[in-house]
Amino acid sequence: MNDAAGTVTYGKRGRVAIVTIDNPPLNALGPGIRESIVDRVREANADGGIEAIVLAGAGRHFIAGADIRQFGKARAMSSSTSAAALAASAKPVVAAIDGYCLGGGLEHALACHYRIATTDARLGLPEVKLGLIPGAGGTQRLPRLVGIRNALDIILSGRHVAADEALELGLVTKIVEPSVLLDAAVDFAAGVAAVRPLPSVDAMETWREADRRDPHAFDAAEQLASRQGRHLKGPRYAVELVRASLQLPLEEGIRLEGERFAELENSEESRALRYAFFAERTAAKIPGAPPGYVPPRVERPAVIGAGTMGSGIAIAFADAGVPVRLLEADGEALQRGMQRIAATYAAKLKRKTITQEEIDARMALIRPVAGYHDIADCDAVIEAVFERIDVKREVFARLDEVMNADALLLTNSSAIDIDTIAAATRRPQSVAGSHFFAPANVMKLCEIVKGDASSIQTILRAARMGRDLGKISVVTGSCDGFAANRSRAPLVTEMMLLLEEGALPGQVDKVMTDFGYPMGPFAVSDLSGLDISYDTRKRRAAADPGYRKLYVPDRLVEMGRKGQKVGAGWYRYEPGDRTPRPDPVVAQVIAEVARELGIPQRTFTDDEILRRLLFASVNEACKIVQEGKALRASDIDVMWLNGFGFPRHRGGLLYWADGIGAAAIHRQVCEWHELYGKRWKPAGLLAGIAAAGGRLRDAVAP
Ligand code: COA
Repeated sequence: MNDAAGTVTYGKRGRVAIVTIDNPPLNALGPGIRESIVDRVREANADGGIEAIVLAGAGRHFIAGADIRQFGKARAMSSSTSAAALAASAKPVVAAIDGYCLGGGLEHALACHYRIATTDARLGLPEVKLGLIPGAGGTQRLPRLVGIRNALDIILSGRHVAADEALELGLVTKIVEPSVLLDAAVDFAAGVAAVRPLPSVDAMETWREADRRDPHAFDAAEQLASRQGRHLKGPRYAVELVRASLQLPLEEGIRLEGERFAELENSEESRALRYAFFAERTAAKIPGAPPGYVPPRVERPAVIGAGTMGSGIAIAFADAGVPVRLLEADGEALQRGMQRIAATYAAKLKRKTITQEEIDARMALIRPVAGYHDIADCDAVIEAVFERIDVKREVFARLDEVMNADALLLTNSSAIDIDTIAAATRRPQSVAGSHFFAPANVMKLCEIVKGDASSIQTILRAARMGRDLGKISVVTGSCDGFAANRSRAPLVTEMMLLLEEGALPGQVDKVMTDFGYPMGPFAVSDLSGLDISYDTRKRRAAADPGYRKLYVPDRLVEMGRKGQKVGAGWYRYEPGDRTPRPDPVVAQVIAEVARELGIPQRTFTDDEILRRLLFASVNEACKIVQEGKALRASDIDVMWLNGFGFPRHRGGLLYWADGIGAAAIHRQVCEWHELYGKRWKPAGLLAGIAAAGGRLRDAVAP
C-alpha cells in the first residue's frame, strides 16, 4: 500500500455533492481520511446549492476498510465518529459502491441513508479474520438492516457478499453496471433529495422486533463462536455485541463495541493475524520481475497422473472454473482417478457444501485423456506422476517433444530435484515446481520451486496460476524437500525420537492441538499414511551413513500399520470411524525400541514437547533462509500457515519463535546440540540474530 496520505475530494453535479475517497490502491481509511470525510459532509450540509450527497471511492473500489497498518497506533479520529457524521447528515447520503466495500468501508456505507452497488461490488465485515470485530457500528447497524441471522453469518464468516446477494438481503437498494455507477448514484440522490424522514438504519425496528421473538436466532453462531473461542475472542465478542444490538439503544451498543474493539486491537491474537495478513501479501512479491510484465493466465492446463495428488489438482482447477485435462496412460488408473474425483464431490454434497448442479458443472470441466497428443495444445502441464526420477524424466522428455514452445512445464514433485527433471528437456527455462499440499483441492499452499534454469517468466506464470486457483503461491529454491517440507522435517524427526525417550503419540498430539493445530502430527501421519515417509527415510539412510534411523515408524510400517487406511497406525481405528484411539501395541513397540537402543525413559512437560518440536524446525528454517532457498523468513511462516495447519492466531513458526526470542532459542539449540549431536547444529543465521538482538521473522535471503 502506498504510504502517501490519501485525500477526500469534493465535487458537484447540479445540486448533488460528490465526496470521493481517493487513497490508492483500495481506498483504505488511512490517516486523515476520516477527518476529511467529516469535513466534506459538513461542507455539503453548509452548501446552500446542495440537496443530496454521494459518497464514492476513486477507481474501482469503494473502501477496503480501515488501514490495517494503523491498528495498535493512536488515531486522531475513530471510524465510528466519521460514520456517525454520515448518519447525522441532514441531507441524504447515498453510498455508491463499486469493488471492495469491506470492514470500515461497509460500516460507512451502513451509516449512509441509501446504498447503490455495482455488479462487481463485494461487501463484507472481515474483521474476525484479523482477530477483531467491526468497530464502527457494524455489529449494531448490520442486524438492524438485515436481521440477526444474516448479520451473524456475515460477521462471523468474514466472507465477501456479492452484489446480487447483497440486493436480496436488502444490504443495497439497487445494482447497476460499474460504468454508470456515478451517474446512477447522482440521479438517485437527486430523486430522493426531498424525501423525509431520511431512512436511517439506526431507526430500523422491523428486524429487531422479529429477532426478539426468535428463540434460536443465536444458536448456530454461538456454537461456532464457542468452537473458535478457545483461541479467539473476536467471534465471542461479535455474538455478544449482536445480541446487544437487540437490547441496547444504538449509541450504547456502539460504545460497547468500541470498548471490545480497543481490547482486541491490542491483543496478541490480532497482532499475529495482522502479521499473517501482511506476510501473505509480501510472499506474493517476487523479485526480478521484468518491468510491466503481466504473467498470462493459465487457460488450458493439463494434469499428468490421476493419483491422489493429480486428481486433487484437477479438482482445484475445476473448482476455479478452469477446464482441465487429466492424462493417465493406464486406462484403469484413469478411471480410478475420475472415481476419486466423483467421490470427493459426493462427500462435499453430503456435507452440503456444494449442490448437484455445481458438481455436474465442475465434473464437466475435467476431461480424462489417454495420450500426450491430447494435451499438445495446453498452455501449462502439471506433472503429478509416481515420485521416481526415471519416470519423471521420461514424462518431461515426452512433454518436450509434444508441447508448444511457450507451454509452462511444472512438476508437483515433493522431493526430486527440479534441475534433474528440467535437464530431461531442451527448455529447462520453462520448467519449475508447483508443489501442492494434500489434499490439493483444499490446502492453500502452492510452493513454486525455482530450478537453476527456470526463467523469471516461468516463475511468475506458475505463481499466478496458483493465485488464480485461490492458493497462496510462495517461491522457494530447489533443495531436498524444498523449503516447506524441509522446514517441517526436523519436527517430524523430533516427534519420533521423543517416543524413544518416553513420550506417547497421544501426549504429543494433545500438546499440539492445545497449541492450536486442528490435528496432532501423529494423527496427521495416520491420515497421510506412514508408508509415504518410509520410502523417503530408506532413500535418505542409503545416501547418508550418519542418518539417524527412526526405528519406531519403520517397525510399525513393517507390521502393516500404515495408518488410517488400514485401520491402524500410530493409533487404532474402529471401522467407519476416524477417531484415533491409543493402542497398547504401539506403546509396546516404542518400549521395545527404547530397550534395544538402551535409551533411558523419562517424562516430558508439555512445554518441553512443544519446544523440542518447534525449535528443531525454527533452526532448520534459519538454514533455509540463509541458503537462499526461501526468499524471506516470513515466507516460511506463510507456508506453515497454509500448508501445515499451523495455528493462524500464532502468526507462523518464526513469528511465534520471536515471542520467545532468538537468544533463548539459540541457547536451547546449543544445549541440545551438545546432548543429541549434529542434527541440532545451530544455524549461523540463528546465532547471528541471537547475538545482534533482531527478530527472526525479519530475516531475508542474502
Ligand atoms: N489496510 C491496509 N492495506 C491494505 C488493506 C487494508 N485494509 N487492504 C489491502 N491492503 C493492501 C495490501 O496490503 C496490498 O498492499 P501491497 O500492494 O503493498 O502489498 C494492497 O492493498 C492490495 O491488496 P491485495 O490483498 O494484494 O489485493 P487483492 O485484490 O488480492 O485483495 C482485499 C483485496 C481487499 C480482498 C484484501 O486486500 C483484503 O482482504 N484486505 C483486508 C480487508 C479488511 O480486512 N478490511 C477490514 C479491516 S478492519
